[in-house]
Amino acid sequence: MTDRKPLISGNWKMNHNHFEAIQMVQTLSYQLSSDDYTACDVSVHPPFTNLRSIQTVLESDHIPISLGAQHCHEEEKGAYTGEVSSGMLEKLNVKLVIVGHSERREIFNESNEQVNSKIKAIFKHSMTPILCVGETIEEREEGQAEIKVRAQLEEGLNGIGRERIGGMVIAYEPIWAIGTGVTATPEDAQSMCAYVRECVTSIAGKSASETVRIQYGGSVKPINAAELMSQKDIDGALVGGAALEADTFARIIQYRLH
Ligand code: 13P
Repeated sequence: MTDRKPLISGNWKMNHNHFEAIQMVQTLSYQLSSDDYTACDVSVHPPFTNLRSIQTVLESDHIPISLGAQHCHEEEKGAYTGEVSSGMLEKLNVKLVIVGHSERREIFNESNEQVNSKIKAIFKHSMTPILCVGETIEEREEGQAEIKVRAQLEEGLNGIGRERIGGMVIAYEPIWAIGTGVTATPEDAQSMCAYVRECVTSIAGKSASETVRIQYGGSVKPINAAELMSQKDIDGALVGGAALEADTFARIIQYRLH
């Protein structure tokens, strides 16, 4: 049994301009202690326009929070108006990139094939992907949740080396729990995260599945974080709304104290 250090990530989505972002990260850093960083890894994923500002704050104040992005394009460069490449993110010292978020899949029609190319591009630039998977409420009610998630994993991880898979992060985010205030029960979240780990075992072998970190995402709040995090196969949280305010996000990061 491998000890996996929890990773708590804040996905800000399209929120906070760079002034608000700087203030949020500084306030958050005042609330966290070295014990918090010893207990878990923390990342923030602001919009692209804030990355440079947040990088500067984290580095100049020596704040041990990892800088993350929410998305990237799979190509290195070229005529892709509005897009940002993984090489550009690496230069900003971005460490983690969310890929295949359900909002990207649903609103921007991202396919598993594109997700797979993005993961390869992220690894090429020495960053860690956070691959998001999860089912809709209809799929869950029809008993299709596992089939959907398995396909997302098999296609998303196609051709990626075992060691790389073992070093990445997978976020199980049931779509019906995102931004709805309805959290999966700890038992349901655990059973799907255990299933994700089982899929990783069949895709990349036992040792990759023991080290891969699996986050739960979907209406994580200070009040439910500790119970979710106590589940055997849950190694962290991908937090949306509750990661926008320093106080609430800090309380989630400090879930073990509550
Ligand atoms: P909420 O925490 O707002 O439900 O969002 C979850 C999410 O989509 C994180 O990526």
